[in-house]
Amino acid sequence: MYVRAAAALASVTGSVVIGVLVLPAAAEAATGHGRPVVIAHRGASAYAPENTLEAIDEADDLDTTWVENDVQRTKDGVLVVIHDTTLNRTTDVEQVFPDRAPWNVRDFTAAEIERLDAGSWKGAEFAGERVPTLHEYLRRVDHNRQKLLMEIKSPELYPGIEAQILRQLRADGWLRYDHVRDRLVVQSFSADSMRTMHALRPAIKTGFLGTPAVADLPAYAQFVDQINPSNTTIDADYVRAVHAVKGAHKKRLEVNTWTVNDAATAQRVAAFGVDGIITNAPDVVSDAVDD
Ligand code: G3P
Ligand code: CA
Repeated sequence: MYVRAAAALASVTGSVVIGVLVLPAAAEAATGHGRPVVIAHRGASAYAPENTLEAIDEADDLDTTWVENDVQRTKDGVLVVIHDTTLNRTTDVEQVFPDRAPWNVRDFTAAEIERLDAGSWKGAEFAGERVPTLHEYLRRVDHNRQKLLMEIKSPELYPGIEAQILRQLRADGWLRYDHVRDRLVVQSFSADSMRTMHALRPAIKTGFLGTPAVADLPAYAQFVDQINPSNTTIDADYVRAVHAVKGAHKKRLEVNTWTVNDAATAQRVAAFGVDGIITNAPDVVSDAVDD
């Protein structure tokens, strides 16, 4: 009850109650005692087709502030939001373009991808959902006043994508201070990509997806603020070791773990002290960590 009341107050004031103190939200993580932030993985992808605008809205309907997505690039250089490097799992590309196997994202133009249905595979009620451009995606997240954990997916396939993403972020107002301060984190499985992003725009928070050896954490901390590992690879000692290192912005490294879709696992990783939980089912994880 106390936690729910505190969370409600925090949602209004941007602060969190600890005892009789009211601390800025940014101080919450530094205490190590805050409720983990819940991040909707590919949007609320348990309930809506992943990485679509509908999945953002579904997360918003579930009062989930943070959404995660995956960014790639089309043949004609448009940034789009999709997880797989091929189109066939989450669209009807095999019907629309039967002769274009293996249906790589990078082999299709934006106009071709715009023709695809990215919703029906999830359910008939989602027919007509599209693969969003990053521009469309950023606008919708902004419209909902949500926050974005953006993954650069397979950056080795898309030379220069970090600089291009920065140009798109600038064009859509996401390099303004209020966004960079606490509404945007860019992450990747590629350390090189995050090193590049940090060098190009040091103000942006970055994250490395993976579980580096503890001895290697100081090297990662030169260019990232977060270490974001699979939940199957961590324990309390690892989280403590990550927290003991200061990241690129001289604050302790944060830990967002993925992909946690059940209450028991959510409570287990929350007890480890993680800062965030990335989940397809944000309602399930929110309820679990509130309990
Ligand atoms: O954000 C963590 C998670 O998205 C990493 O894995 O394969 O779902 O992109 P994946
Ligand atoms: Ca991802």
